[in-house]
Amino acid sequence: MTRVATIDDVRAHARRRLPRMAFDFIDGGADQEVTLQGNLDAFRRRTLRPRHLVDVTERRLSRTVLGQELELPVLIAPTGLARIAHRTGDVAGARAAGEAGTIFTLSTMSSHSLEEVRAASRGPLWFQLYLWPQRDVVENLVARAQAAEYAALVVTVDVPVVGNRLRDVRNGFSFPPRVRPSTALDLLRHPRWLAGVPSAMTFANVADQVGDGPGKALEYARLVNRLLANPGADWSMLSWLRERWTGPLLIKGTLTREDARLALEHGVDGIIVSNHGGRQLDGAAASLDALAEVLDEVGERAEVLLDGGVRRGSDVAKALALGARAVLIGRPWLFGLAIAGQEGVALVLEILRQELDRTLALCGRTSVDDLGADLIGPSYP
Ligand SMILES: Cc1cc2nc3c(=O)[nH]c(=O)nc-3n(C[C@H](O)[C@H](O)[C@H](O)COP(=O)(O)O)c2cc1C
Repeated sequence: MTRVATIDDVRAHARRRLPRMAFDFIDGGADQEVTLQGNLDAFRRRTLRPRHLVDVTERRLSRTVLGQELELPVLIAPTGLARIAHRTGDVAGARAAGEAGTIFTLSTMSSHSLEEVRAASRGPLWFQLYLWPQRDVVENLVARAQAAEYAALVVTVDVPVVGNRLRDVRNGFSFPPRVRPSTALDLLRHPRWLAGVPSAMTFANVADQVGDGPGKALEYARLVNRLLANPGADWSMLSWLRERWTGPLLIKGTLTREDARLALEHGVDGIIVSNHGGRQLDGAAASLDALAEVLDEVGERAEVLLDGGVRRGSDVAKALALGARAVLIGRPWLFGLAIAGQEGVALVLEILRQELDRTLALCGRTSVDDLGADLIGPSYP
């Protein structure tokens, strides 16, 4: 992996490793992918204002997020079906995050169960949840997350229906998959990946609702399709959850001041400004562009984090300078996982750590806590 120097390199390697169907599932966005691209452009556009002749011999990257001291203000975002990238899946991600001193957020739709992930890592964990109408299912997951000592709950609110991910439609990636001859041929060219598929296509946290066995496949596919969309969720369900979860509660997917205000009224401790990595509403604002509006509403009343398009240490610096407490990465960790399991995720976090550290030095700042609006210059057009 000597030639892998950036997250873009990691992505390029992952593209070669994975069958097209799997790579596109991870890499793709909704519709024309305008928001997906917008997330990246929003970072690229911002310029930095370096200060010079500052002693930057000692530099600090650590930051406290919802009471937890992290060595790196880059968290792992929740992503379902991680084992589609590599058989070691969420377990590898949680271990790598723990060793890097940061938080791994486990998706409800993870390939490993929340208990398996807890048992595999002593690092800090958050659990992501959807507000499904089946309250007994949600209640059960919350109780399990509490028992397994997940430090915070993250409620994702931007999936009333699943976004129209055209690459998946074209590749026949669905539950169950619709494999055409050309796709089958591509899959067969990746025998090692193919061997791991049966475990990749399971959702361990909810599998117990259907049970095992070959006859269960269709029932399972129906359950998955039902759980992926969530059109009936409303704010009253957040209140219901707030009463049941005493630990830190975050909402993920907020892009407007109106929703930020409602989230605060419903007692959240944190808001993750996110457009689901451009996988849901195409045409939604880039996360970095929506950050100011949310921060303006929230002030100091909750911690505001951001995800979407973070690919460089300088991106992390820009997000922090514009007021994010920390950032999360989705695709980058999955690409790292695809190329080398836990080692690949560790590499991704290390690349970002080194780049952030170098950015601090080059900008004449000694700590991530010194990053403020004065770091950001005029934007490129
Ligand atoms: C393959 C994949 C699966 C995802 N699954 C989930 C999920 O289960 N729950 C969730 O809240 N967000 C999910 N997301 C969104 C991420 O949590 C995150 O918001 C997004 O990936 C951030 O953008 P980035 O990929 O540019 O870093 C998923 C993203 C990807 C790429």
